[in-house]
Amino acid sequence: MRALPETDRLVLRELGPSDLGALTAILSDAETMVAYEGPFDRTEVATWLARQERRYVEDGFGLWAVTLRETGELIGQCGPTRQVIEGESMVEVGYLFNRRWWHQGFAIEAARASRDWGFHNLPVDRVCSKVRDTNLPSMNVAIRNGMTPRRRIVTHYRGVDMPHLVFEITRDEWMLRSEPRRP
Ligand SMILES: CC(C)(COP(=O)(O)OP(=O)(O)OC[C@H]1O[C@@H](n2cnc3c(N)ncnc32)[C@H](O)[C@@H]1OP(=O)(O)O)[C@@H](O)C(=O)NCCC(=O)NCCS
Repeated sequence: MRALPETDRLVLRELGPSDLGALTAILSDAETMVAYEGPFDRTEVATWLARQERRYVEDGFGLWAVTLRETGELIGQCGPTRQVIEGESMVEVGYLFNRRWWHQGFAIEAARASRDWGFHNLPVDRVCSKVRDTNLPSMNVAIRNGMTPRRRIVTHYRGVDMPHLVFEITRDEWMLRSEPRRP
């Protein structure tokens, strides 16, 4: 398998059954899950993990565990996923972090590494992040990741119509960025 991203502070790896506790701490937290229309119950957390594991097999990538290089603690999830947006197959960088670890730059560090991994390893001309139109912290991560809002879509999820902005960065825009790109 292609090596997964590492950064100065973080190591990304595939999620597995032993992560269920750390995953539950993220996905069952009401404040964290506002943009997802509320916290997940145990069944929804298990389904979420199974979906990532299926993605690893079918696509070769998915939302990964974000762990601290120093301790190995799982502090969030981040990674590329394959999504169909307006009939088009896109690679989307997603991110959800445990609230204890917000506001320290970990999400943007993982999102940059996931974006770079996508451009290095996949034959894509664009990478996007799909953000609910009320989710300002997530928009900030997308903007800091060099992305620009390029279209509006409505996603139907958990019984609710959710307007989203699709932030995108093209391969050309990515190549022109001055920050160091990780292999
Ligand atoms: C989206 C989410 C991951 C963003 O988390 P975040 O903590 O705001 O983002 P970062 O980890 O990149 O931290 C950025 C902040 O850390 C600060 N920071 C501190 N040290 C830093 C460093 N070394 N490098 C970069 N930024 C740093 C930045 O100034 C920034 O400050 P701000 O919070 O005032 O904007 C988080 O809100 C979340 O998990 N939300 C719930 C799930 C969700 O909605 N996901 C998105 C679905 S589309």
